[in-house]
Amino acid sequence: MFLILPCLIEFTIPYVPDPYVFRFDGRFRFLSLSLVKDCWTRKSRQGVITHTSYFVVKEFNDDIIWKKELQVLEELRGLRGVARLLGSGRRMNGGPFIVTENAGEPTNKDVEEPSDWYDVAPLIGEIHARGWHHHDLHGGNVLNNGKGNLTVIDFGNAVRAADCVGDCPDNLWMDDI
Ligand SMILES: Nc1ncnc2c1ncn2[C@@H]1O[C@H](COP(=O)(O)OP(=O)(O)OP(=O)(O)O)[C@@H](O)[C@H]1O
Ligand SMILES: [Mg+2]
Ligand SMILES: [Zn+2]
Repeated sequence: MFLILPCLIEFTIPYVPDPYVFRFDGRFRFLSLSLVKDCWTRKSRQGVITHTSYFVVKEFNDDIIWKKELQVLEELRGLRGVARLLGSGRRMNGGPFIVTENAGEPTNKDVEEPSDWYDVAPLIGEIHARGWHHHDLHGGNVLNNGKGNLTVIDFGNAVRAADCVGDCPDNLWMDDI
C-alpha cells in the first residue's frame, strides 16, 4: 500500500524503525508503508529495487552513482525513451534513492546482435544529442511497457559526450543502423 501526499513535503512515522521518508521536488510525495500483491523488493547490482505497478524505487549503495543517475534523469527529463523521474531522496539511514515511473519489463535484447537494437538505437541517438552517453547498454536496461514503448534505464555509468574518448560502447549498435 502507498499513499500519495500532494500537500506535504515530507512525512515521517516516528514509531516505525527506519521509515522511508520520501522527499520530492515534484507535485507528488509517496510514503511506502508496505508492499502488497504484485510488488517486490530485490537486491540489484547497485542497490535494492522495489517494484510496484506504478513506480519503481531504486536505492543505491554508492552516492556517486546515485548522483550521476539523478543528474542524467533530470537533464533528460521529458526525452522520449528515458525513464520518467518521479522523485529522489534519502532514507532515514542515509541511503539515497530515486523513484521512476514503472516502464515495463526488461526486453533482454541480445547484446551480440545489432539488428536487435534497431528500435533502441534512435533513442540512444537522441540521448547522445542531448550530451550523454549511457555506456551500460544491455537487454536488462531497456524496458518495454507492452504497448510498444521502449525505455532506457540505469544511467549510473553514463558519461558526458565530451568525456567519451576512444571506442564508445554505445556506438556498437548505432554504427550498424
Ligand atoms: N523504471 C523502471 N520500470 C520498471 N522496472 C524497472 C525500472 N527501473 C528498474 N527496474 C527493474 O529493476 C532492474 C534493475 O534496475 P537497474 O538496471 O536500474 O539497476 P542495477 O543495479 O543496474 O540492476 P542489475 O543488477 O539488474 O543490473 C531492471 O532490470 C528492471 O527489471
Ligand atoms: Mg541495470
Ligand atoms: Zn561513449
